[in-house]
Parts: sequence; structure tokens; C-alpha cells
Amino acid sequence: MDRLLIIGASGLLGGKLYESCSSDYEVHGIYNAHKPEFKNMHQLDVVKRDSVFKLFEEVKPDLVVDTHAVSNVDYCELHPEETWKINVEGTKNVAEACKMNGCKLLFISTDYVYDGTKASSYSEKDKPHPINYYGKTKLIAEKVIEALALDHIIARTAVLFGASKSHDKTPFPIWIINQLKDNKEVRVVIDQYNNPTLTDSLVHTLIALYEKDKSGLFNVAGKTTISRYEFAKIVASEFGLNEGLIKPITTSELNQPAKRPQKVSLNVSKAEKAAKTKMLTIFDAVKAFREEFEKVRE
Ligand SMILES: NC(=O)c1ccc[n+]([C@@H]2O[C@H](COP(=O)([O-])OP(=O)(O)OC[C@H]3O[C@@H](n4cnc5c(N)ncnc54)[C@H](OP(=O)(O)O)[C@@H]3O)[C@@H](O)[C@H]2O)c1
Repeated sequence: MDRLLIIGASGLLGGKLYESCSSDYEVHGIYNAHKPEFKNMHQLDVVKRDSVFKLFEEVKPDLVVDTHAVSNVDYCELHPEETWKINVEGTKNVAEACKMNGCKLLFISTDYVYDGTKASSYSEKDKPHPINYYGKTKLIAEKVIEALALDHIIARTAVLFGASKSHDKTPFPIWIINQLKDNKEVRVVIDQYNNPTLTDSLVHTLIALYEKDKSGLFNVAGKTTISRYEFAKIVASEFGLNEGLIKPITTSELNQPAKRPQKVSLNVSKAEKAAKTKMLTIFDAVKAFREEFEKVRE
């Protein structure tokens, strides 16, 4: 049984990874501020290089999935020093510890490495050009990993959503559901397009890439590119909620500190072919999300 170390086990994706992999792998996890209710959890700040190396010697993982990041895009823009330390230096520590211990690294990156100006979809061959600080630090982290020449997978994903008991994060669709259930109006941007990604489906493809011994750069995201506004409408319709409460607004009305790429459509065919999996369309993903959401609420 391979030993898997999840960095960021207290996060949205890390928690899903733990839940999905605990029967087939010996799973260990790292959290920083929020201790999850899982077995084999280790408290660690990845910025502390010596502690990272010490933990790797103790756990001796075969695979490390690094999901850690400061991922609040506006927070990153306003706190560049902290973001650099965690997103770049933290990743460097993890990657160097992987190299020293001969384990594979699967690093989670983002569609925000692209500038969103291309009319058609982005493949792994397109040149990245981040337009906000979060995207810049994730791209530099990717380059740090590539320069180390260790066995790795970099997976660029987008707008994660899923329901789970293991964390208290509120992904976008859960926020929409909560607001509409309380009969509150929501204002959602109509001019930002991405590929929303169900965490379960992402985990399935990531693990398939590892088990098929693949390496390199992959876009791994939902199959459909839609605006946040359309996404909110699909969620409302699937949950039988009042779509009329969703009001379209434009990005410029929000005055956000960090710029957003307008349209990043990720072409996921390389990952689908390599992993022999199918990423979900938005309708299938939101339907699966409703089933997951109802199970969690039982
Ligand atoms: N969410 C999205 O829509 C999205 C989209 C594209 C790409 N991504 C990427 O996907 C990955 C997972 O995202 P997510 O939404 O699951 O993230 P998340 O829920 O915000 O979780 C982040 C995790 O990082 C950990 N962490 C932060 N600073 C740390 C430190 N100094 N040392 C150790 N652990 C630290 C947190 O631990 P504590 O909570 O215990 O402090 C938490 O477990 C990230 O790399 C992100 O860049 C996310």
C-alpha cells in the first residue's frame, strides 16, 4: 500500500483527497491552523524548512499531494509578503523534501496562471501570463518544481466546489444555496468565465494520473466553461431554488483589489487521455454535487 502525504489536509481539496484515498493508501496529512478529524494528522507550517524535512523523514511518503496555498485572490494582492512565503517558499520546501526523499510530487496549481484574453481554450502548451499576485506566485511555484527535475505532476484546476463534513469552507455553490434559502438576493458576475470543478471528479483524475505513472503538466478541471452567473443559475435550478434572486453584475462594479482573468477555458483533453477518465460537464457535476450535499446534511 503506497503512503500518501496530503499537504493541506484541512482544506477543501485536501479533505476530499483524504476521504477518497483512505481505503487504498496509507494516508497522512498536514494542516497548519485547523486540525481535521482524520487519523495521522501532523501540524506543520510549510514555511519552516527544517520541520518539513523532519516530517518527511518520519512519514517517508511515496506520493505527496501539495494542496496548500493562500488562495484568496484579493487577500494575496493585499498581503504579498505572506503570500510569497507560503505559496512560493513553502512549495519550494516541499518540493526539495520530495527530491531528497525520492517521492513523487503532485502539485495543485490554478487557471489563474493565464491572463484570460484568449478566445479559444487554453492547452498546456499556451504561454501563461498571470495578471494577479496569486497567479504569479502559483506560476513561480510551478517553475521551482520544474527546475528541481524531480518526478512530478502539476495539475492546473479552477473554481473548486464540493460538499464535505471535514471542513467549514463555503464554496461558491453552497454560498448561493444558503443565500437563496434565506430568500436573499445575490449579485453574481456575468463577465468572468472559468471551468467549475467538482472536487470528487478532480481527485478521481489526479489519482488515476498517479496510478498510471504519468508526469508533467495537466489541466484538470470541469468540462464546461461558464460565467459565475450561469453557474449560480444552474445550482439554483438543480436545488429548486428561486433563480430570480440572482442578479447579474459586472466585475468592474465589484472594485476588487485583484484583477481577474475574464475568460479562462481550460482544455482538459490531455489529462482525460492520460488518466483514461472523463471530466464532468457542469450539469453532471452540479447533479453529483447535490447528491453529495444531501448526504452530508443527513
Ligand atoms: N479553491 C479554488 O477554487 C481553487 C481553484 C484553482 C486552484 N486552486 C488551488 O487548489 C489548491 C487547494 O485549494 P483549496 O480551495 O482546497 O484550498 P483551501 O481550502 O484554502 O486550503 C488551503 C490549505 O492550505 C493549508 N495551508 C495554508 N498555509 C499553510 C502553511 N503555511 N503550512 C501548511 N499548510 C498551510 C491550510 O491549512 P490550515 O487551514 O490548517 O491553516 C489548508 O489546509 C490550492 O493550491 C489552490 O491554489 C484552488
